[in-house]
Amino acid sequence: MRTLAKILVVDDGDTQRQIISDVLTRAKYGVAQASSTAEAIEEVTQNHLDLIITDLKMEDGNGIDVLREAKRLSPETEVIVMTAYGSIESAVEAMREGAHDYITKPFDKDVLLVSVQRALEHKRLREENIELRELVETRFTLGGIVGASPKIQKLFRLVERSIPVNSTVLIQGESGTGKELVARSIHYNGPRKTNPFIAVNCAAVPENLIESELFGHEKGAFTGAIQTKKGKFELADGGTIFLDEIGDMSLDLQAKLLRVLQEMQIERVGGTELIPIDVRVIAATNKNLEQEVAKEQFREDLFFRLNVILIEIPPLRERLEDIPPLIDHFQKKLSAKFQRKYPAMDPVVVDKLMEYYWPGNVRELENTLERLLVLTDKERIEVSDLPRNVLMPQIATQQLEGMRLPEEGLSIEDVEKKLICDALARTGGHILKASKLLGMTYKTLQYRIKKYDIRL
Ligand SMILES: Nc1ncnc2c1ncn2[C@@H]1O[C@H](COP(=O)(O)OP(=O)(O)OP(=O)(O)O)[C@@H](O)[C@H]1O
Ligand SMILES: [Mg+2]
Repeated sequence: MRTLAKILVVDDGDTQRQIISDVLTRAKYGVAQASSTAEAIEEVTQNHLDLIITDLKMEDGNGIDVLREAKRLSPETEVIVMTAYGSIESAVEAMREGAHDYITKPFDKDVLLVSVQRALEHKRLREENIELRELVETRFTLGGIVGASPKIQKLFRLVERSIPVNSTVLIQGESGTGKELVARSIHYNGPRKTNPFIAVNCAAVPENLIESELFGHEKGAFTGAIQTKKGKFELADGGTIFLDEIGDMSLDLQAKLLRVLQEMQIERVGGTELIPIDVRVIAATNKNLEQEVAKEQFREDLFFRLNVILIEIPPLRERLEDIPPLIDHFQKKLSAKFQRKYPAMDPVVVDKLMEYYWPGNVRELENTLERLLVLTDKERIEVSDLPRNVLMPQIATQQLEGMRLPEEGLSIEDVEKKLICDALARTGGHILKASKLLGMTYKTLQYRIKKYDIRL
């Protein structure tokens, strides 16, 4: 059932006010009445109103004052003014002050009802829009992950769905795309957040130590094991273990890990006892594990065991819309870190940052912004402040430099190759953008890159 919209009818003519009120009551609206501007303003301050229908000329004042006061106190209240025939100026003034509509007296009841319906519909839409905008804003960030692109929105939804469950998560993405950030936000927004989040970099621990690092060891298990030590799995009990760079784990250890994941119990190195564990496993890699499986570098059964929820983080260059909100985010973060206001940025700088290839992804963007802050004392960052690699990416420029061709005798192919290299340099190797610059299709450009053997 819809809640009754509350409408205030303001008119110092008793008959007129009563007629309007009756029409509205019969149309199933909630109606209040005021017979003067003073009474109306009193009503506006006391009660929530969806709509006010007010006469303009009244004995004690002008309906415009009611309108102003209503808009000041509750801008979401809609107002319709009633004007006498021939006083269009006052109607115009009222519209300027924020009235939604005006009706000219005398009017018949259908005109009144249509205007009321429209005003309420307008209010409803506006409220919906505000809600939607708030929703969108919260969706620009989730547990510290910032981004506005459709790709990152999709990632947000996936992250949200993996938060409340206990399933294993596999995160894949190039270096610096935010794999650890995603892992942390899954843990710190979920039911295990008060328990530990333990990260292990499987590539950084020496091969002979990693087993004890993960599962712990008993005293005397090997030379140097002077006392019993708990492994990361035990330390993460009740919480989450983050197995970073899982693609670099040896096949031997992969087999042991698989068994642990299947049985949810561990055995310390040199131990005999099986210790039950309660951990959520999140693994990450910058390799494509499916390919590693195909190359027999990664166990297929372990891949399936890890790959329950797969979160792929696309490289930054494939989600350029994320760059402006990320810049904003890092400017705030860096100002706080360095206790210094982040200088304003020339819009062209932002353009340049959006054109660059970002091989080091978000981490590289963050580092670039940090360097800009540290190295400049200026009020405003300009294009010339940008590091050379961002301005002129290496990829194609080196090839350009090697092309000191004579002024004469250039073939069409030479010129075309030069133009293509130039466009690629300017777009940081972004084929789609370069193709737009050159006015050729993506496919054509791809074909020419191959033909001229241009290395990306
Ligand atoms: N979407 C994002 N919003 C805000 N910060 C981000 C985002 N993505 C990455 N970062 C920041 O970028 C940096 C690198 O992220 P992180 O360490 O999670 O990347 P990674 O994928 O684990 O990289 P690597 O493979 O090199 O270990 C961190 O400071 C992180 O906070
Ligand atoms: Mg990492």
